[in-house]
Order: sequence, then structure tokens, then C-alpha cells
Amino acid sequence: MLAEAGYADPAITYFLEKKYMGHIEDADQVSEKVGSCGDIMKVYLKINGDNTIQDVKYEITGCAGAISAAMAAVELVKGKSVDTALELTDGDVFKALQNIPEKKHHCIQLAVKTMHQGLNEYKEDARAQA
Ligand code: FES
Repeated sequence: MLAEAGYADPAITYFLEKKYMGHIEDADQVSEKVGSCGDIMKVYLKINGDNTIQDVKYEITGCAGAISAAMAAVELVKGKSVDTALELTDGDVFKALQNIPEKKHHCIQLAVKTMHQGLNEYKEDARAQA
């Protein structure tokens, strides 16, 4: 069904496996964003002392496109520094998914914007505490 709707195999796998869905108990940052469609994403970030990303999880009330985009986004930032992760673009995520339906492209934006918001809020908090 997803393939018929225009989802490529990697996107379908990300959606079915949902590897990074859920929450992180001792997260260093939790941020939430509401998309233009009204769906909600919450990102949990666990950051190492050297400012690299140890773990990320998402809670999502949203569509298959949103879930697959968020899962791909996590894979693209894990192990990277916070600043490098902030360079993540919608295009990077789209490439990892290979394809999702045109009308689902805003769901990629929501996943990336939520990630950026979490990283930026983490940086602001770290700055405030320094
Ligand atoms: Fe709302 Fe995809 S996130 S339609």
C-alpha cells in the first residue's frame, strides 16, 4: 500500500521498523513542534560531554511520511556534533528516504525543524548554564 502511494523501499523500512520512536528517560533536551498539518512531534536528545549526539528519539502523532522522515533524520545525526547536526537539511532526509509522495514533503520539514529546534534549545540552555 505504501509503495503504491509513492514511498520508496528505504522510506517503508524506516516507517515499519520505527527504530527511534519513543522517549529517552534522562534526555538532555526535550522539544516539541506542531506542523502546518496540525501533527505534533516531540524530540528527545541525549548529548555526550564532548557535544556529540549519543541518542535521539521522537514521539510522533503524524503520518507515515513524518515517521519515516524522523527515523532517517536520527540516523543522519547520530554520532555527529550538535553543530554538524544543525546542518541537516530536508534534502538530506529526502535522499535517505529515496522517495515519498510529493504531498508528504512538509512532513520531512517537520522532522528536520523539530530536530533543529531541539538542538538550538539545547545550545541555548548550555549557554545559559555556562
Ligand atoms: Fe502531518 Fe505528515 S506530519 S501529514
